[in-house]
This record gives sequence, C-alpha cells and structure tokens, in this order.
Amino acid sequence: MKITIVGAGSVGASCAEYIAIKNFVSEVVLLDIKENYAEGKAMDLMQTASLNNFDTKIYGCTNNYSKTADSHVAVITSGVPRKPGMKREELIEINAGIVNNVVNNLIAHSPNVIIIIVSNPMDTMTYLTHKVTSIPSNRIIGMGGALDSARFKYRLSEALCCPASDVSGIVIGGHSDKGMVPLTSLATRNGISVNEYLSNETLENITHQTKVGGATLTSMLGTSAWYAPGAAVSALVQSIVCDQHKMFPCSVMLNGEYDLHDLTIGVPVILGKNGVEKIVELNLNSDEKESLMKSAEGVKKTNSILVEMGLI
Ligand code: 2OP
Repeated sequence: MKITIVGAGSVGASCAEYIAIKNFVSEVVLLDIKENYAEGKAMDLMQTASLNNFDTKIYGCTNNYSKTADSHVAVITSGVPRKPGMKREELIEINAGIVNNVVNNLIAHSPNVIIIIVSNPMDTMTYLTHKVTSIPSNRIIGMGGALDSARFKYRLSEALCCPASDVSGIVIGGHSDKGMVPLTSLATRNGISVNEYLSNETLENITHQTKVGGATLTSMLGTSAWYAPGAAVSALVQSIVCDQHKMFPCSVMLNGEYDLHDLTIGVPVILGKNGVEKIVELNLNSDEKESLMKSAEGVKKTNSILVEMGLI
C-alpha cells in the first residue's frame, strides 16, 4: 500500500511519522514544492526507523507527482496555516488555488486514489475537491472532526480526571471556531453519560474550549498545531487502508442526510477500504439540530467565495 502526503510541513511530516510508526503501509511519499524539503524530512524520519522499529519506507520528492503514482490514499496538507488571530476561513484566497492544483495532479497519477483534505478552510477545500474533480464522493474525505473530537475528549478527560481513552465523544459540524458542534449529550465516560458527572456550566466551558482548540494552540505556538492534526489524519488513513470500519466525524458531501444538500460538513461516517462506507445519521436533539443547521449556513457562506473566485 502506498500513501502520498502533499505538504511536508509540520502536519504532513507528523502524519508521515505516525503512519510509519504504526507500520501498516509499505510506502509513504512526502511531496513538497520547496526544493529538497520533503527529501530532508523523509531522510530524517527514516533515520528513526531502527529506533522506532518500523519497516515503512518514506520517500521525499520536490513537486514530482510521478513519484506519487498509484497511491491508495493521498493526504493534502499543502497551503498556508493560519497565524494567531486569524480565522481558518481567511486562508481561502491562497489555499483554494493550491488545493485545486494538487488534487488534479494527484488524480492524474492515481485515478483510484482516496483523498483526505486537511488544508483550511477544510470544509470548503473538501467541497472544492468535489467540484473540480470527477472522483466519486466516497473517495473525498475532509479531516476536521476527528481532530476536534480528540480535543473534546482531552477537555472531558481533564474535567473528569480520567484517561482520555476512557472517554467517548464526537464533534460534528464545520471545522471552524464557531461552527463546531460538540455533542455533550452523547459523550460518555466508560459508557456512562458525562452529564452524570459534570455540571452544565462545566460542559459549556468544555464546548467552548473545544471550539477554539485550534485557535488556542495557534496563539500559543504562533502557527497551527501539528501533532494532533497529524495523529487524526493517520487514524483515518489506517481505518481506510486496514479496512477497519471505524467511525469518525469527517467532512463529506451530504445529499439529503441531516436534511442538508450539496454541502460538505462534519458528520459521523464509517471509513473502510472504499473510503466512506456509510454516513451515520444520529438522532440529534433540537439544540444539536439547530447548531448543525447554523454551522451549515457558515460553511455555505465560505463555499460561496469559491464562486466569487471563479473556481467553481
Ligand atoms: C487545527 O484546528 C489546523 O485546523 C487545524 O489545528
């Protein structure tokens, strides 16, 4: 199995490292436009192979898509990350052109590829990919909710003073500071509702901290986070490549599910060898439904900029 990661920056390189260490694919190709940068990252990562006991081969290349040929999954992290105080949506002007170029180059060399979009504004970049390519919807997946859910579980585990592995939680909606919908009604600790343990005030604070989780780290780091985004992508790749049928909230094209049409937004999906195997419709309460609809309006508004840019 061959995985391509476009963008050898911190997120792309972290994703490559986690995929390699999990040792479930034979080959990872890191591609970047900066001369020798992906090659350097690949060499540095390969020098950890004997220490981290993996057999995965990581190759780097400079803007040479022939090296990505016959990839099973391609992860797109290319584009500029946000700076402190920026919203993800502000990146659209620069990143839309990059993603458009990248996806078409990838598909030209790997017609059957499953694409995972990370570049921000992620929901809109995922929508763009649907509109500028003719690959089936089940092979276009936006990664945001898996990361947001990890941050949600981190906040819940902190409040519950328990391991994050004891916590189950899911964030749906747009991958934006205002659009995320952490589903506190469904969150559990060892199968018991977190509402049994935490006050509404605490849960409201956790919801807020989750929604601004990316912005919080950007203000601390001076740029977007990379470890958790890289880990979240590697989990999606593993569920696809190993046909695990795990459920993650991902940004996928909706055509009537959740009463939404022609929109990519975070909802629970089952990921397997075909990419999106199934879209899972949750029984949301009225507040959650209202939040999802509001989030959808926000994504649609950002998507409309693609029309103004003449890209779709
Ligand atoms: C984040 O939330 C980069 O959007 C990504 O950290």
